Amino acid sequence: MSQFLSQFPRTRMRRKRQAAWSRDMVRENLLTPADFIWPIFVVEGENELQPVSSMPGVNRMSIDVAVKHVKEAASVGVPCIAIFPNIAQTLRTEDCAEAWNPDNLVCRATRAIRDAVPEIGIMEDVALDPYNANGHDGIVRGDKIVNDESVEALVKQTLAQAEAGANIIGPSDMMDGRIGAMRDALEAAGHQDVMILSYAAKYASAFYGPFREAVGADGNLKGDKKTYQMDPANSNEALQEVGMDIAEGADMVMVKPGIAYLDICQRVKDTFGVPTFGYQCSGEYAMIEAAAANGWIDRDKIMFESLLAFKRAGCDGVLSYHAVEVSKKLNG
Ligand code: PBG
Repeated sequence: MSQFLSQFPRTRMRRKRQAAWSRDMVRENLLTPADFIWPIFVVEGENELQPVSSMPGVNRMSIDVAVKHVKEAASVGVPCIAIFPNIAQTLRTEDCAEAWNPDNLVCRATRAIRDAVPEIGIMEDVALDPYNANGHDGIVRGDKIVNDESVEALVKQTLAQAEAGANIIGPSDMMDGRIGAMRDALEAAGHQDVMILSYAAKYASAFYGPFREAVGADGNLKGDKKTYQMDPANSNEALQEVGMDIAEGADMVMVKPGIAYLDICQRVKDTFGVPTFGYQCSGEYAMIEAAAANGWIDRDKIMFESLLAFKRAGCDGVLSYHAVEVSKKLNG
């Protein structure tokens, strides 16, 4: 690149940084409300707003309350939400059958939001952990999380959610072969317009801790998720995961967690050039909020800077619990 041959003082890098207007002129990346997918947590009941203690500012909402908040999200320009349920412990079973009950909490929330806020995109997670007695994303037999039987269950969950009106299916389970199976099933059932945003490179990460509290899976989880989620030490393997999901019919892909995995986001985007999302997940949110509550960091500045970093790494968008607040601020 020719600019690296340029020498001081003919080149002074600070010339362009001297004023706000000139910094504005040369800025390479921007954050807009259209960059966000906003994850929300739903619970049964009416007028429920239950704080998630490890995620200050995030609440589990009953469907009526969620509808109001999603309306607000749409009004500030957030294009899409992602719905996660916290269901009664009594509905969590070994076979996870509640996951494909057409009247389960997620399906009812989807229909209510679809009716009340038709202009917003609705993404739904596909994974069994909120429905599983043992907190795993797949079916457990003995000491194994069995792959192919899990995929069959996940396909049933996918179809129930598509039937309820999901626009985007977000498989977060990391079973092998699930994207192809879901795509074929969606096509066969006439849901050819339902998109798949695959959690393609999802790591076995400690950054998900607060989320597991939010969906009530923290106490249930036996063992860890290392036989299906990726080893944080690996990078080339992420490209293989993403390549397979695209070949199987994923429309968009995701890397998760976010801020500590931006190298993966960049490699994925550079290699495949498909719409790529990063998930600023619950533990990242909790770290920002906790440090800010102690007065140790400037919360708003860190919020913007960390989200902008996803754009710089090549992400087309970010799943963020700060999505609505940041969008309001971006709108002034
Ligand atoms: C479920 C799922 C998880 C997250 C999204 N979907 C947790 C996990 O895999 O244990 C994490 C979200 C977050 O931490 O914000 N498969």
